[in-house]
Amino acid sequence: MNLPKGTLMCVVGARPNFMKIAPIMAALEGSVPLSLVHTGQHYDTRMQTLFFQQLGIPEPDINLEVGSGSHSWQTAEIMQRFEPVVEAATPAAVLVVGDVNSTIACALVAAKEQIPVIHVEAGLRSFDRSMPEEINRVLTDQLARLLFTTERTARDNLLREGVEEHRIHFVGNVMIDSLLKHRSKAVAPREILLRSKGNVGVDACASGYAVLTLHRPANVDDTPTLRGILSLLQEISERIPVIFPVHPRTAAALERSGLHQALEQISGVFCMPPVGYLEMLGLMNKARLVLTDSGGMQEETTALGIPCITLRDNTERPITVEEGTNTVTGVAPERVLAVLDDILATGGKAGRIPELWDGRASLRIKEVLGDWIR
Ligand code: UD1
Repeated sequence: MNLPKGTLMCVVGARPNFMKIAPIMAALEGSVPLSLVHTGQHYDTRMQTLFFQQLGIPEPDINLEVGSGSHSWQTAEIMQRFEPVVEAATPAAVLVVGDVNSTIACALVAAKEQIPVIHVEAGLRSFDRSMPEEINRVLTDQLARLLFTTERTARDNLLREGVEEHRIHFVGNVMIDSLLKHRSKAVAPREILLRSKGNVGVDACASGYAVLTLHRPANVDDTPTLRGILSLLQEISERIPVIFPVHPRTAAALERSGLHQALEQISGVFCMPPVGYLEMLGLMNKARLVLTDSGGMQEETTALGIPCITLRDNTERPITVEEGTNTVTGVAPERVLAVLDDILATGGKAGRIPELWDGRASLRIKEVLGDWIR
């Protein structure tokens, strides 16, 4: 194994990790020896390669190529493949971001090897243990020696769980560092439609559209729930055209349940494969609203000032509701449509930019890390 020794070892695995690691590595470059491990949890070009290119993330030193599987299989497989990497490279610390299976798997290996774990985006809680990510968040934070938070409530959550106060640093949101850096390069929605659908949808969406993303197991893995969401989508599309980049998990669920045909028949919904970072930024930036069950997009829409309807019963990112443009609705049609109608009539919540979501979170991390390493 040809990995540099004694580095600050950064870990990525799945799509939402990439926009977080990019600004951190860029900020630390030159001040700390760095290495990058990609677990390969996401492996499709559209789920990862594009993001490396668009965000300027360095080539990983190693790709563990773990791929897909059940949660326990995937987590265990990442651990088995990451352990020899840590043993060979003896990193000074392992830095993990977010809440995906790669985050907890690599944090656990590092902790067992007595290597300090640094967690970026610590302390977020949905208080819903049926979400795989909530389990990953709680456990990763227990293992971390240094915890960087994006909003003030995260500190209270961590203190309640017994994390020592001196380990917690409120630095702001690294994902917003990426957003602000790349916003001017966002791809125009018309261009995205032309590329993926030819002329289809270009005229329909010209005077306003909504963006939809959907991939939570709770929304897509259960066929009756998914069927209900499709009939909701029919009603939404009668009010506003919907652009829908379809996540691989959702595509698989639609195929498995035979619901893909029902989706194709909704004329106001324009489906496409997952899009890159600059494309999604472009779609969100010009949308009248976003409907999503993603965590990251709740924050990105708040930063962009675009109304967001969160198709979940809870959020681990309460600041997006309290200060931002987000409304958590779940998937009950009457609730979603009431909020949607309000947004279409009034423009929705104005919102304001949360504290320290200013594009400088990675620089604050660099400062704290400098002191910590010394
Ligand atoms: C994962 C994260 C989730 C995050 C999401 C963003 C966990 C527990 N979940 O969910 O928090 O919001 O990524 O996308 O870590 N697949 C492909 N190609 C890929 C990746 C996945 O086809 O490159 C398909 C496979 O059928 C796979 C399924 O998508 O089984 C789910 O992938 P997985 O990585 O298990 O979880 P996500 O649903 O993507």
